[in-house]
Amino acid sequence: MEVIIQPAKEAAAYLVARLIARELRANPHLVLGLATGKTMEHVYRNLARMHREERLDFSLCRTFNLDEYVGLLPSDPNSYRHYMNRHLFSQVNIDMRNTHLPNGMAEDLHQECRRYEATIQRFGGIGLQLLGIGKDGHIGFNEPLSALRSRTRVKALSPTTLAQNAPAFGGEDKMPRRAITMGVGTIIEARRCLLLATGPSKATVLAQAVEGPITSMISASALQLHPRCTVVVDEAAAGCLAGKDYYRWIFENEPEWEEYR
Ligand code: F6R
Repeated sequence: MEVIIQPAKEAAAYLVARLIARELRANPHLVLGLATGKTMEHVYRNLARMHREERLDFSLCRTFNLDEYVGLLPSDPNSYRHYMNRHLFSQVNIDMRNTHLPNGMAEDLHQECRRYEATIQRFGGIGLQLLGIGKDGHIGFNEPLSALRSRTRVKALSPTTLAQNAPAFGGEDKMPRRAITMGVGTIIEARRCLLLATGPSKATVLAQAVEGPITSMISASALQLHPRCTVVVDEAAAGCLAGKDYYRWIFENEPEWEEYR
C-alpha cells in the first residue's frame, strides 16, 4: 500500500482523476470500477473537465459500480444509477451500454448478485477500482464483519452508514436498509485499487485501515493484502496517520510520482 498526502481535498481528487486518466489513456478498453458518495463528486468533476478540455476518451471504457441500494428505481434521485448518470456518464462520451451497476430492483436479488459477478468476469475482471471509505471502514457497502473473501451480495447497512447517508434521503426512516455490494474478495481482485479519503471525519478510520491490523471490523484494512493499492488523502484525513513523514518523503522523492508533484 502507498499513501499519498495532498494539501486539500481538491488536490487529492485532482490527483486521483489524473491517475485514472493515465490508466485510461494507456488502455482505452479499461474496465473501471467506480464508487459513489460525496468524496467522488470532485473526482468526477475533474474527469468531466478532462474529457471536455483534454479529450479524455471514455468511448471504449467499461464501468462496474461497487454498489446499489435495494428497492430504489434507477430514476430515483438517491439511486446510485442516478448519481452516476448525473455526475459522470452524462458528462463524458461513455456508451451507456458499457456502464454496469447492480440492479437493486431485481426480483431475485441473489441471482442478480451472481449475474453481476459473472458479468465482471466475462469482461476480464476490473483493471482499476476506485474506492471511498465509510466512517465504519467500509469499502463498497462491506459493513463491519464482512468476510474478507466475500463476493457480491446483499448487505444490511450498519447504523454508522445509515447515519452517514441519511441526510440525502431526509432521514434514516426514509432510506433503504439494504444494498447490493461487490464483496471484499471481489474488490481486492482488481488489478489496481485507488482509495480516496478526505476530511477530518475519515481520519481515525483511515489510520485504522492503513496502519492497523487486517480485520473484518474495518473492511478497508483488507486492502493491505493488495499488491497495488494507492491511498490518496488530504491533510485532514491524514490527521491520525503515524507514518506521515515517511509517506510524504515517498511522494516527494520516488521517480514514479515525479509527474504528479
Ligand atoms: C459508495 C461507496 C462507499 C462510499 C463511502 C464514502 O459507492 O462505495 O463506500 O465511498 O461511504 O462516502 P462519502 O464519500 O459520501 O463519505
